Amino acid sequence: MKILIIGGGNMGMTYARSLLRAHLVQPEDLMVLERSPEQAEKLRAEKIGVVFSDPAKCLSVADLIILAVKPQDSAKLFQTLRPATDPQQVYLSIMAGVTIATIQHGLGVEKVIRAMPNLPAQIGLGMTSYTASDAVTRIELVLVQNLLNTTGKAIYVDNEYAIDATTAISGSGPAYVLYFMQAMIEVAQEMGFNPSQAELLVAQTFRGAVELQMKNDLSCEEWIKRVSSKGGTTEAAINSFKATSVYEDIKNGAKAALARAEELGRG
Ligand SMILES: NC(=O)c1ccc[n+]([C@@H]2O[C@H](COP(=O)([O-])OP(=O)(O)OC[C@H]3O[C@@H](n4cnc5c(N)ncnc54)[C@H](OP(=O)(O)O)[C@@H]3O)[C@@H](O)[C@H]2O)c1
Repeated sequence: MKILIIGGGNMGMTYARSLLRAHLVQPEDLMVLERSPEQAEKLRAEKIGVVFSDPAKCLSVADLIILAVKPQDSAKLFQTLRPATDPQQVYLSIMAGVTIATIQHGLGVEKVIRAMPNLPAQIGLGMTSYTASDAVTRIELVLVQNLLNTTGKAIYVDNEYAIDATTAISGSGPAYVLYFMQAMIEVAQEMGFNPSQAELLVAQTFRGAVELQMKNDLSCEEWIKRVSSKGGTTEAAINSFKATSVYEDIKNGAKAALARAEELGRG
């Protein structure tokens, strides 16, 4: 099977590296179409697939095409590709906000999978959800699930609303976590730690809390109860959080991201 990645930027390179590392594709069967000469040079230097600048030389031989250009570049790209697309090809798009119907219409194809990954995909700890048009077969879906799993974890969702909701939770989510971390790092420094100590204290705390939560059956709420003894320090902090609307504010932030994802999807 030949895979073509269109757009060899951050995400395109992430998929290319992950697929090669997992031996899901042979190096000679992985093609990357990249318009920026500097980026193309970078890909060649790293020996990431066979690099092309002209779609006419690679699109027609590809079985699976990963669309990894910026959403604002998609309309122009579709115009260029459309004359050479084949209805048997499967198109996997990771472009934020570009709907399955827009891709089908733009490319004149039926088999489209839309996925929403996140940044930790770069280190194999990504979270992706994906959905597909009716024309995609079960075997093709399994193949794509395997492909997405090379960058972390992936779940199938029933509809494109869930893709927008994914954008609001795991897509933008790393920034929410980093925002919380930033506040903790700042207050650690106010308490007298130097910047590297503060960063280590906070990063290791986040890592430990996440691992605890993932490796056990207890919910976050149950873990919080375990850590918070009556009249203790954790309880003092949690009570302070509860006295403000921080919990609701976090939820509202995610809802604002969802509203924006839906707005972008409507063009
Ligand atoms: N980064 C993330 O964490 C993340 C998460 C979820 C989804 N996504 C989605 O992933 C997609 C790619 O994001 P990215 O951060 O990887 O972008 P990026 O680093 O800008 O990479 C896109 C690459 O595609 C090239 N390109 C644009 N139009 C092209 C065309 N017609 N033919 C060939 N190459 C073309 C660009 O070249 P130029 O430099 O010349 O424009 C650039 O090198 C976006 O749609 C984004 O919504 C990203």
